[in-house]
Amino acid sequence: MNTSTQPRPRTRRRRNFTLRQLKLFEAVVRTGSFTRTAEELLLTQPAVSNQIKQLEDQIGAPLFEHIGRKIFPTEIGRELAHFSRDMFSRIDEFENLLDDIKGLHHGTLNVAVVSTAEYFAPYLLARFCAQHPGITVNLDVTNRNSLLKQLAENTPDMAIMGVPPDDADLVAQSFMPNPLVVVAAPRHPLATIRNIPIERVLKERFIIRERGSGTRDAFERFLLQQGERLHQSMEMSSNEAIKHAVMAGLGLGVVSLHTLEMELKLGRIAVVDLAGFPLERHWHLVHRNGKRFSLAAQALKTFILTEASTAPPTLPKPKRSPKSAPPPEHQGKASQSVLFCKKEPKNSF
Ligand code: PGA
Repeated sequence: MNTSTQPRPRTRRRRNFTLRQLKLFEAVVRTGSFTRTAEELLLTQPAVSNQIKQLEDQIGAPLFEHIGRKIFPTEIGRELAHFSRDMFSRIDEFENLLDDIKGLHHGTLNVAVVSTAEYFAPYLLARFCAQHPGITVNLDVTNRNSLLKQLAENTPDMAIMGVPPDDADLVAQSFMPNPLVVVAAPRHPLATIRNIPIERVLKERFIIRERGSGTRDAFERFLLQQGERLHQSMEMSSNEAIKHAVMAGLGLGVVSLHTLEMELKLGRIAVVDLAGFPLERHWHLVHRNGKRFSLAAQALKTFILTEASTAPPTLPKPKRSPKSAPPPEHQGKASQSVLFCKKEPKNSF
Protein backbone atom coordinates (compact mmCIF):
# COMPACT_ATOMS: atom_id res chain seq x y z
CA MET A 1 0.00 0.00 0.00
CA ASN A 2 1.34 3.40 -0.87
CA THR A 3 1.12 5.59 2.21
CA SER A 4 3.12 8.52 0.79
CA THR A 5 1.23 11.83 0.69
CA GLN A 6 3.64 13.28 -1.95
CA PRO A 7 2.03 13.44 -5.42
CA ARG A 8 3.86 11.21 -7.85
CA PRO A 9 5.58 13.08 -10.73
CA ARG A 10 3.49 12.62 -13.88
CA THR A 11 5.30 10.56 -16.42
CA ARG A 12 4.33 11.35 -20.00
CA ARG A 13 4.68 8.77 -22.72
CA ARG A 14 6.99 10.26 -25.36
CA ARG A 15 5.41 10.04 -28.76
CA ASN A 16 7.62 8.55 -31.39
CA PHE A 17 6.78 10.56 -34.48
CA THR A 18 9.50 11.47 -36.89
CA LEU A 19 10.54 14.59 -38.76
CA ARG A 20 9.74 12.76 -41.97
CA GLN A 21 6.15 12.16 -40.83
CA LEU A 22 5.78 15.81 -39.86
CA LYS A 23 7.14 16.95 -43.24
CA LEU A 24 4.66 14.70 -44.97
CA PHE A 25 1.83 15.89 -42.71
CA GLU A 26 2.75 19.53 -43.43
CA ALA A 27 2.59 18.79 -47.18
CA VAL A 28 -0.88 17.20 -46.86
CA VAL A 29 -2.16 20.28 -44.98
CA ARG A 30 -0.58 22.61 -47.56
CA THR A 31 -1.79 20.76 -50.67
CA GLY A 32 -5.12 19.62 -49.13
CA SER A 33 -4.68 16.26 -50.84
CA PHE A 34 -3.01 12.90 -50.20
CA THR A 35 -2.58 12.38 -53.95
CA ARG A 36 -0.85 15.73 -54.55
CA THR A 37 1.39 15.12 -51.53
CA ALA A 38 2.36 11.73 -52.94
CA GLU A 39 3.20 13.36 -56.30
CA GLU A 40 5.18 16.16 -54.65
CA LEU A 41 7.21 13.81 -52.44
CA LEU A 42 7.56 11.09 -55.08
CA LEU A 43 5.69 8.53 -52.96
CA THR A 44 2.66 6.37 -53.55
CA GLN A 45 -0.69 7.54 -52.21
CA PRO A 46 -1.03 4.46 -49.88
CA ALA A 47 2.43 5.25 -48.44
CA VAL A 48 1.25 8.78 -47.59
CA SER A 49 -2.02 7.49 -46.02
CA ASN A 50 -0.06 4.91 -44.07
CA GLN A 51 2.36 7.48 -42.63
CA ILE A 52 -0.49 9.80 -41.65
CA LYS A 53 -2.31 6.86 -40.03
CA GLN A 54 0.83 6.03 -38.00
CA LEU A 55 1.13 9.66 -36.96
CA GLU A 56 -2.52 9.68 -35.88
CA ASP A 57 -1.93 6.49 -33.86
CA GLN A 58 1.02 8.11 -32.12
CA ILE A 59 -0.96 11.23 -31.35
CA GLY A 60 -4.07 9.28 -30.44
CA ALA A 61 -6.47 11.46 -32.40
CA PRO A 62 -7.49 12.01 -36.02
CA LEU A 63 -5.58 14.77 -37.81
CA PHE A 64 -7.90 15.17 -40.79
CA GLU A 65 -11.61 15.01 -41.40
CA HIS A 66 -13.18 14.20 -44.74
CA ILE A 67 -15.99 16.46 -45.89
CA GLY A 68 -17.32 15.46 -49.28
CA ARG A 69 -14.26 14.81 -51.43
CA LYS A 70 -12.07 17.25 -49.51
CA ILE A 71 -9.93 16.81 -46.42
CA PHE A 72 -9.54 19.39 -43.68
CA PRO A 73 -7.24 19.35 -40.64
CA THR A 74 -9.03 18.77 -37.32
CA GLU A 75 -8.37 21.14 -34.41
CA ILE A 76 -5.46 18.93 -33.29
CA GLY A 77 -4.32 18.78 -36.93
CA ARG A 78 -4.26 22.59 -37.13
CA GLU A 79 -2.28 22.82 -33.90
CA LEU A 80 0.20 20.24 -35.17
CA ALA A 81 0.52 22.13 -38.50
CA HIS A 82 1.31 25.32 -36.60
CA PHE A 83 3.88 23.53 -34.45
CA SER A 84 5.48 21.81 -37.48
CA ARG A 85 5.83 25.06 -39.43
CA ASP A 86 7.47 26.67 -36.43
CA MET A 87 9.80 23.73 -35.97
CA PHE A 88 10.82 23.55 -39.66
CA SER A 89 11.53 27.24 -39.70
CA ARG A 90 13.79 26.77 -36.62
CA ILE A 91 15.54 23.90 -38.43
CA ASP A 92 16.05 26.21 -41.45
CA GLU A 93 17.56 28.80 -39.12
CA PHE A 94 19.88 26.15 -37.72
CA GLU A 95 20.94 25.10 -41.22
CA ASN A 96 21.69 28.70 -42.12
CA LEU A 97 23.71 29.00 -38.93
CA LEU A 98 25.64 25.89 -39.87
CA ASP A 99 26.36 27.39 -43.29
CA ASP A 100 27.67 30.52 -41.62
CA ILE A 101 29.79 28.59 -39.15
CA LYS A 102 31.26 26.68 -42.06
CA GLY A 103 31.94 30.00 -43.73
CA LEU A 104 29.56 29.33 -46.61
CA HIS A 105 28.06 32.59 -47.71
CA HIS A 106 25.17 31.05 -49.44
CA GLY A 107 21.74 29.87 -48.53
CA THR A 108 18.10 30.38 -49.30
CA LEU A 109 16.15 33.34 -48.00
CA ASN A 110 12.39 33.71 -47.92
CA VAL A 111 11.03 37.21 -48.27
CA ALA A 112 7.31 38.00 -48.15
CA VAL A 113 6.04 41.31 -49.51
CA VAL A 114 2.63 42.96 -49.82
CA SER A 115 1.35 43.02 -53.39
CA THR A 116 2.26 46.65 -54.05
CA ALA A 117 5.92 45.97 -53.24
CA GLU A 118 6.13 43.70 -56.29
CA TYR A 119 6.80 46.85 -58.31
CA PHE A 120 10.20 47.44 -56.68
CA ALA A 121 11.19 44.35 -54.65
CA PRO A 122 12.34 42.24 -57.65
CA TYR A 123 14.65 45.09 -58.78
CA LEU A 124 16.17 45.30 -55.32
CA LEU A 125 16.63 41.53 -55.21
CA ALA A 126 18.22 41.50 -58.66
CA ARG A 127 20.83 44.00 -57.44
CA PHE A 128 21.38 42.03 -54.23
CA CYS A 129 21.71 38.68 -56.04
CA ALA A 130 24.19 40.17 -58.52
CA GLN A 131 26.42 40.97 -55.51
CA HIS A 132 25.74 37.60 -53.80
CA PRO A 133 25.44 34.99 -56.54
CA GLY A 134 25.45 32.13 -54.00
CA ILE A 135 22.25 33.30 -52.31
CA THR A 136 18.80 32.32 -53.54
CA VAL A 137 15.90 34.55 -52.55
CA ASN A 138 12.32 33.28 -52.75
CA LEU A 139 9.76 36.07 -52.97
CA ASP A 140 6.18 35.58 -51.84
CA VAL A 141 3.79 38.31 -52.96
CA THR A 142 0.61 38.49 -50.94
CA ASN A 143 -1.66 41.05 -49.26
CA ARG A 144 -1.23 42.64 -45.86
CA ASN A 145 -3.49 40.27 -43.92
CA SER A 146 -1.89 37.12 -45.21
CA LEU A 147 1.58 38.61 -44.69
CA LEU A 148 0.73 39.26 -41.02
CA LYS A 149 -0.32 35.64 -40.71
CA GLN A 150 3.00 34.51 -42.20
CA LEU A 151 4.93 36.69 -39.75
CA ALA A 152 2.92 35.23 -36.86
CA GLU A 153 3.93 31.78 -38.08
CA ASN A 154 7.55 32.90 -38.50
CA THR A 155 7.70 31.58 -42.09
CA PRO A 156 9.56 34.39 -43.91
CA ASP A 157 13.03 35.60 -42.95
CA MET A 158 11.76 39.12 -43.41
CA ALA A 159 8.83 40.97 -44.90
CA ILE A 160 8.12 44.29 -46.60
CA MET A 161 4.89 46.10 -45.84
CA GLY A 162 3.31 49.56 -45.58
CA VAL A 163 2.21 49.96 -41.98
CA PRO A 164 3.56 47.35 -39.57
CA PRO A 165 1.23 46.32 -36.75
CA ASP A 166 1.85 47.56 -33.25
CA ASP A 167 3.24 44.24 -32.06
CA ALA A 168 6.06 43.85 -29.56
CA ASP A 169 6.96 40.54 -31.21
CA LEU A 170 7.95 42.32 -34.43
CA VAL A 171 10.81 44.64 -35.37
CA ALA A 172 10.00 47.20 -38.10
CA GLN A 173 12.31 49.69 -39.79
CA SER A 174 11.16 52.21 -42.35
CA PHE A 175 13.34 52.50 -45.44
CA MET A 176 11.63 54.27 -48.36
CA PRO A 177 8.68 56.58 -49.08
CA ASN A 178 5.48 54.94 -50.34
CA PRO A 179 3.25 57.79 -51.51
CA LEU A 180 -0.38 56.97 -52.21
CA VAL A 181 -2.06 58.84 -55.05
CA VAL A 182 -5.49 59.14 -56.68
CA VAL A 183 -5.41 58.47 -60.41
CA ALA A 184 -7.71 59.11 -63.36
CA ALA A 185 -7.74 58.51 -67.09
CA PRO A 186 -5.93 61.44 -68.79
CA ARG A 187 -9.22 62.43 -70.49
CA HIS A 188 -11.12 62.55 -67.18
CA PRO A 189 -12.34 66.09 -66.37
CA LEU A 190 -10.50 66.06 -63.00
CA ALA A 191 -7.19 65.12 -64.62
CA THR A 192 -6.33 68.73 -65.50
CA ILE A 193 -7.65 70.58 -62.46
CA ARG A 194 -5.29 71.64 -59.65
CA ASN A 195 -5.73 71.30 -55.90
CA ILE A 196 -9.16 69.67 -55.99
CA PRO A 197 -11.02 69.51 -52.66
CA ILE A 198 -11.78 66.03 -51.33
CA GLU A 199 -15.58 66.62 -51.38
CA ARG A 200 -15.38 67.11 -55.14
CA VAL A 201 -13.60 63.84 -55.92
CA LEU A 202 -15.94 61.87 -53.69
CA LYS A 203 -18.70 62.58 -56.20
CA GLU A 204 -16.83 60.21 -58.53
CA ARG A 205 -16.82 56.44 -58.50
CA PHE A 206 -13.70 54.98 -56.87
CA ILE A 207 -12.02 51.71 -57.68
CA ILE A 208 -10.37 50.47 -54.50
CA ARG A 209 -8.37 47.44 -53.42
CA GLU A 210 -9.83 44.42 -51.63
CA ARG A 211 -10.33 44.22 -47.86
CA GLY A 212 -7.08 43.34 -46.13
CA SER A 213 -5.05 45.54 -48.48
CA GLY A 214 -2.76 48.10 -46.83
CA THR A 215 -3.48 50.61 -49.63
CA ARG A 216 -7.20 50.42 -48.99
CA ASP A 217 -6.70 50.58 -45.26
CA ALA A 218 -4.62 53.77 -45.56
CA PHE A 219 -7.18 55.45 -47.84
CA GLU A 220 -10.07 54.51 -45.54
CA ARG A 221 -8.23 55.87 -42.53
CA PHE A 222 -7.60 59.12 -44.42
CA LEU A 223 -11.31 59.44 -45.26
CA LEU A 224 -12.29 58.70 -41.68
CA GLN A 225 -9.95 61.38 -40.44
CA GLN A 226 -11.58 63.84 -42.87
CA GLY A 227 -15.05 62.79 -41.71
CA GLU A 228 -15.78 61.62 -45.27
CA ARG A 229 -16.76 58.34 -46.89
CA LEU A 230 -16.93 56.91 -50.40
CA HIS A 231 -20.32 57.19 -52.07
CA GLN A 232 -19.67 54.96 -55.04
CA SER A 233 -16.98 52.33 -55.08
CA MET A 234 -15.93 49.11 -56.77
CA GLU A 235 -13.46 46.62 -55.40
CA MET A 236 -10.61 45.03 -57.35
CA SER A 237 -8.01 42.74 -55.88
CA SER A 238 -4.96 43.88 -57.84
CA ASN A 239 -3.19 47.15 -58.60
CA GLU A 240 -2.99 46.18 -62.28
CA ALA A 241 -6.77 45.65 -62.48
CA ILE A 242 -7.35 49.04 -60.82
CA LYS A 243 -5.02 50.82 -63.26
CA HIS A 244 -6.67 49.19 -66.27
CA ALA A 245 -10.15 50.03 -64.93
CA VAL A 246 -9.07 53.65 -64.47
CA MET A 247 -7.57 53.81 -67.99
CA ALA A 248 -10.82 52.33 -69.31
CA GLY A 249 -12.71 55.21 -67.70
CA LEU A 250 -14.49 53.23 -64.97
CA GLY A 251 -13.63 55.74 -62.26
CA LEU A 252 -10.82 57.05 -60.08
CA GLY A 253 -8.31 54.71 -58.47
CA VAL A 254 -6.15 54.79 -55.35
CA VAL A 255 -2.71 53.25 -55.76
CA SER A 256 0.86 53.62 -54.61
CA LEU A 257 3.06 55.77 -56.85
CA HIS A 258 5.32 52.70 -57.17
CA THR A 259 2.74 51.03 -59.39
CA LEU A 260 2.62 53.83 -61.97
CA GLU A 261 6.07 54.20 -63.48
CA MET A 262 5.17 52.82 -66.90
CA GLU A 263 1.72 54.42 -67.21
CA LEU A 264 3.02 57.85 -66.23
CA LYS A 265 5.90 57.58 -68.70
CA LEU A 266 3.48 56.67 -71.48
CA GLY A 267 0.95 59.30 -70.40
CA ARG A 268 -1.77 56.67 -70.04
CA ILE A 269 -2.80 57.68 -66.54
CA ALA A 270 -2.95 61.01 -64.69
CA VAL A 271 -2.30 61.68 -61.02
CA VAL A 272 -5.23 63.71 -59.66
CA ASP A 273 -4.08 66.81 -57.82
CA LEU A 274 -6.16 66.22 -54.73
CA ALA A 275 -5.76 68.37 -51.61
CA GLY A 276 -3.98 66.39 -48.89
CA PHE A 277 -2.37 64.04 -51.42
CA PRO A 278 -0.09 62.24 -51.97
CA LEU A 279 -0.64 60.45 -48.67
CA GLU A 280 2.84 60.20 -47.28
CA ARG A 281 3.50 56.65 -46.24
CA HIS A 282 6.64 54.56 -45.85
CA TRP A 283 7.75 51.04 -46.60
CA HIS A 284 8.90 48.99 -43.64
CA LEU A 285 11.18 46.01 -43.35
CA VAL A 286 9.67 43.72 -40.73
CA HIS A 287 10.79 40.54 -38.99
CA ARG A 288 10.15 38.65 -35.79
CA ASN A 289 11.78 40.03 -32.70
CA GLY A 290 14.77 37.90 -31.73
CA LYS A 291 14.97 36.34 -35.20
CA ARG A 292 18.35 34.70 -35.64
CA PHE A 293 19.69 36.02 -38.91
CA SER A 294 22.14 34.08 -41.02
CA LEU A 295 24.92 36.14 -42.60
CA ALA A 296 22.97 36.03 -45.85
CA ALA A 297 19.78 37.31 -44.21
CA GLN A 298 21.70 40.03 -42.39
CA ALA A 299 23.32 41.08 -45.68
CA LEU A 300 19.91 41.29 -47.38
CA LYS A 301 18.42 43.27 -44.52
CA THR A 302 21.28 45.80 -44.60
CA PHE A 303 21.05 45.99 -48.39
CA ILE A 304 17.31 46.77 -48.36
CA LEU A 305 17.60 49.32 -45.57
CA THR A 306 20.42 51.20 -47.26
CA GLU A 307 19.97 50.68 -51.02
CA ALA A 308 16.21 51.04 -51.50
CA SER A 309 16.19 54.67 -50.48
CA THR A 310 18.56 55.52 -53.34
CA ALA A 311 15.74 55.33 -55.91
CA PRO A 312 12.41 56.37 -54.37
CA PRO A 313 9.47 56.97 -56.73
CA THR A 314 8.85 60.56 -57.83
CA LEU A 315 5.77 62.31 -59.08
CA PRO A 316 5.90 63.86 -62.54
CA LYS A 317 6.01 67.66 -62.62
CA PRO A 318 2.54 69.03 -63.39
CA LYS A 319 2.58 70.08 -67.07
CA ARG A 320 -0.71 71.96 -67.12
CA SER A 321 -1.81 75.31 -65.85
CA PRO A 322 -4.59 75.32 -63.27
CA LYS A 323 -8.11 75.30 -64.73
CA SER A 324 -9.87 76.44 -61.61
CA ALA A 325 -8.69 78.26 -58.53
CA PRO A 326 -8.76 76.17 -55.38
CA PRO A 327 -11.34 77.07 -52.77
CA PRO A 328 -9.75 79.21 -50.03
CA GLU A 329 -9.91 76.55 -47.30
CA HIS A 330 -7.65 74.29 -49.35
CA GLN A 331 -5.07 76.83 -50.36
CA GLY A 332 -1.61 76.01 -49.18
CA LYS A 333 -2.30 72.31 -48.68
CA ALA A 334 -0.19 69.64 -50.29
CA SER A 335 0.01 69.76 -54.07
CA GLN A 336 2.01 67.78 -56.59
CA SER A 337 5.04 69.97 -56.21
CA VAL A 338 5.33 68.74 -52.62
CA LEU A 339 6.86 65.34 -52.84
CA PHE A 340 8.09 63.42 -49.83
CA CYS A 341 9.07 64.20 -46.28
CA LYS A 342 12.59 63.14 -45.39
CA LYS A 343 11.28 62.07 -41.99
CA GLU A 344 8.16 60.01 -41.45
CA PRO A 345 5.21 62.34 -41.00
CA LYS A 346 3.38 62.19 -37.67
CA ASN A 347 0.22 61.30 -39.51
CA SER A 348 1.53 58.15 -41.10
CA PHE A 349 -1.03 56.13 -43.05
P1 PGA B 1 -1.21 46.22 -50.24
O1 PGA B 1 -0.23 46.94 -49.21
O2 PGA B 1 -0.45 45.84 -51.47
O3 PGA B 1 -1.75 45.05 -49.43
O4 PGA B 1 -2.31 47.22 -50.54
C1 PGA B 1 0.49 48.05 -49.60
C2 PGA B 1 0.75 48.99 -48.45
O5 PGA B 1 0.49 48.67 -47.28
O6 PGA B 1 1.19 50.10 -48.76
